[in-house]
Amino acid sequence: RDPGRAVMRYAQRGTADQYLGRFHLTREKLQEVSERLRKDLIRGLGKHSHHKAPVKMLPTFVRATPDGTEKGDFLALDLGGTNFRVLHVRVMEEQQRVLKMDSQICAIPKEMMQGTGEQLFDHIAACLYDFLLSHNLERETLPLGFTFSFPCEQKEIDKSILIRWTKGFNCSGVEGEDVVKLLKEAIRRRGDYDIGSVAMVNDTVGTMMSCGFRDQSCEIGMIIGTGTNACYMEEMKNVKRVEGEAGRMCINTEWGGFGDDGSLRDIQTEFDVVVDEMSINPGVHTFEKMISGMYLGEIVRLLLVRLTEDGLLFGGRTSKALLTPEAFETKFISEIEEQDNGLENTQKVLSKFGLKWDTVDSCVVRLVCDAISSRSARLCGAALATLANRIRVNRRQERLKTTVGVDGTVYKKHPNFSEELRATVRLLAPKCDITFLVSEDGSGKGAAMVTAVAQRLARQSRLLEESDGETDDEEEEEEEDQ
Ligand code: GLC
Repeated sequence: RDPGRAVMRYAQRGTADQYLGRFHLTREKLQEVSERLRKDLIRGLGKHSHHKAPVKMLPTFVRATPDGTEKGDFLALDLGGTNFRVLHVRVMEEQQRVLKMDSQICAIPKEMMQGTGEQLFDHIAACLYDFLLSHNLERETLPLGFTFSFPCEQKEIDKSILIRWTKGFNCSGVEGEDVVKLLKEAIRRRGDYDIGSVAMVNDTVGTMMSCGFRDQSCEIGMIIGTGTNACYMEEMKNVKRVEGEAGRMCINTEWGGFGDDGSLRDIQTEFDVVVDEMSINPGVHTFEKMISGMYLGEIVRLLLVRLTEDGLLFGGRTSKALLTPEAFETKFISEIEEQDNGLENTQKVLSKFGLKWDTVDSCVVRLVCDAISSRSARLCGAALATLANRIRVNRRQERLKTTVGVDGTVYKKHPNFSEELRATVRLLAPKCDITFLVSEDGSGKGAAMVTAVAQRLARQSRLLEESDGETDDEEEEEEEDQ
C-alpha cells in the first residue's frame, strides 16, 4: 500500500510525510487506546460512574440471541443512516432465513433532519402508511421493530429515550423523550392505521441479531458507516443498572463517544479538531469523528487544502470545489484507493474538483486517503479487540471463538479497510478467533429478529408457566403481601 512514494518529489515527500505521520498509530499507541477503552467500558457499566462516562454502555433489554426457532411477519423501520426505510420482513423457521418481502426508501430532506421532532415523526408515520397501503397491509396490526440508530436510554424493549442526536440529525423536542411514544402519537394524529407491539433496536443490535440467525455464536455487532458503534453480549451481573444477575444482556456501547472526556487528545490531529469544531455537535462523538463515513472525506479534504497551501500539491493552487466544506465525499476515498483503477479514479476526482494535477499529485492524494482510512480501520480494530478481550475474560476462557456481525458502507465498500481492521484485531486480541459476517440489511431484518426473539422468549416463558401450573397473578399477590 505504497503507491506513490517512489515517484514523489524529494521535497514533497519530506513535508507530506510530516503531515501523514500524525495519522500513523504505532502498535503501542493502539494498545494504549484499547486499554483506555477497556477502562471506559467499565465506567459506562457502573451504577454510579455511568452518568459521566463518555462511553455510555446502554442496556438494550435484548437478553438472548436467536436460537433458530423464531418465526412470523413483522414491520421494520430503519432511521439513522443516509436514508429512512420501511420494510416488511418474514422470519422463516424451517429454512432459518429472514426474508425481506418488500421495502421502501423515503428520503428525509436535510431541513427535516434539523427541523422539529413532530415534523420528523409525522413524516415517518406518513411513509409507513404509504408503504402499508401499497402492500395491502393497512388493515393488519403487525409487530414493529424500529431500528433507531442513535444513543437511547432504554427502560424496556419498547421504551427508549433519546439521549442526544448524532450524525447530522438535530430535531427539536426529541432529546429526553420516548421515541416509541413520539411514533405512536404521530400515528394516532393520523388515525387511519395502527401498529402492534414495538421493539426499539440500535443498528448494531439489529446487525448482531440478523447475523445471529445464521451463526448462533454471533455475539458482537459492529457498524462502520455514516457513524460507528458496536454492541456485544455482556454478563448480566456486570450490568449494574439493570436488576438481575443471571444470563446476559446485549449492551450498546456507543463507542463513538469514546474520547469525549479528552482521553484521545494525544492522537487527535489539528484536522480532527477542525472537523469537530465545524460539526453541529462539537465536543461530542470524538472517536466517531476520526473513523466514520460522515467525517473521513472532510478530514481528507482539509489535509489536501493544507498540503496545497504549503505548495506541496497542485502547484500550490486550490479550487473552489476543494475549498467547499464537505465537498469531498467519503466514497471518493474508496474509489481512489482501489487497487487496479485507483490512479485513474483519483485523476477523475481531481479533475472534477477543478484541480490541475500531475502524476505525482495523484500519488500523493492516494497516500493521503490511505493514511486517513488506515487510521480509521486500525482504531476500529483496536476497539473491537477491546470487546473481544472483554468477552474472553468475562467467560474465563483461554481462547475465545466468536463471530462479529458487521455492516456499514465504510467497511463494505473500502477496498482494504476490513483487511487492516482484522490485522489490528489479531495483533491486539491474539487469544480471540474472530469470524466476521457481513450483514445483509441487518438493521432492517435485525429489528424484526429482535421482535421475533422477544416473542419467542415470551412464548417460552408462557409454556414454562403453563407446565408448572403457576400463574403470574399468584406470584404478584405474594409479592404484595410481603
Ligand atoms: C452513531 C449513533 C449510534 C449508531 C452509530 C452507527 O454513533 O450514536 O447509535 O449505532 O452511529 O449508525
